[in-house]
Amino acid sequence: MKQALTVPKFKAMKASGQPIAVLTAYDYPSARLAEEAGVDAILVGDSLGNVVLGYDTTVPVTLEDMIYHTRAVVRGAPGTMIISDMPFATYRLGPEETLRNAARLMREGGAHAVKMEGGADLADEIRRLTAAGIPVIGHLGLTPQSVHTIGGYKVQGKDRQEAEKLLDDAHALERAGVFGIVLELVTEPLAAAVSKSLQVPTVGIGAGRGCDGQVLVFHDIIRYGSGIRDKRFVKTYADVGETIRQAIGNYVGDVKSRQFPEEKHGFPLDDASAKDWALSSRLYGGDPT
Ligand code: KIV
Repeated sequence: MKQALTVPKFKAMKASGQPIAVLTAYDYPSARLAEEAGVDAILVGDSLGNVVLGYDTTVPVTLEDMIYHTRAVVRGAPGTMIISDMPFATYRLGPEETLRNAARLMREGGAHAVKMEGGADLADEIRRLTAAGIPVIGHLGLTPQSVHTIGGYKVQGKDRQEAEKLLDDAHALERAGVFGIVLELVTEPLAAAVSKSLQVPTVGIGAGRGCDGQVLVFHDIIRYGSGIRDKRFVKTYADVGETIRQAIGNYVGDVKSRQFPEEKHGFPLDDASAKDWALSSRLYGGDPT
């Protein structure tokens, strides 16, 4: 069986210049497909809230939701590194409470690592988790759990003040012990500069070509769902939503027009029962011959 990437190997990919391919997944079939297709790591993102649970933001996602979905992903991709998101308000609660919550994602969910959104303010909590053996990946740039503070899903790092803060935060996270940093919706030059200046890999989403790896949302790259919005930073590889819609429409049409089921979809009686006069008369109201 394929072995899951370890944290040292994840970091070594940057050193040897190998791009890191990460994809989100939230359930058993998507995780299996992602593993079979050869992703380096799966992120059980709290984007779960948007693409699977139907919320407008990631804020309502709970630790229980994350544990439940992480378990399914781990079952589907036993040979892949699984990183699970710490959802809104399950950290920044002080190092001990944060440690308890992160430990649940690993012990009950089976995650190999956790991801947290935020900068230098998380340093103490990250140090506590890494000291306890919990690998942490950071997340800077657009941090969707703070959407109500930021005021929307906007590209980050556009002016000097934002750019300098992001660089400082990235270095604070690295010093605190993260093994990688997700950069979301960050201008390409800034993401490239951050990536160059760090020892640990950056994994970009909407952060351009200079990152050490890329992550995208499962449902986005295959348009799995209804009303998937086009996003500039997403490349679409299939339109599974349209395929599913057409398939279900054809099924409904076949049932309504009695074209499904056909004879081949049914189960005949065995020969002896078919010749049984009593049974046949009950089923068909007559002689089996
Ligand atoms: O929740 C998520 O899917 C994420 C990615 C967008 C990086 O955090």
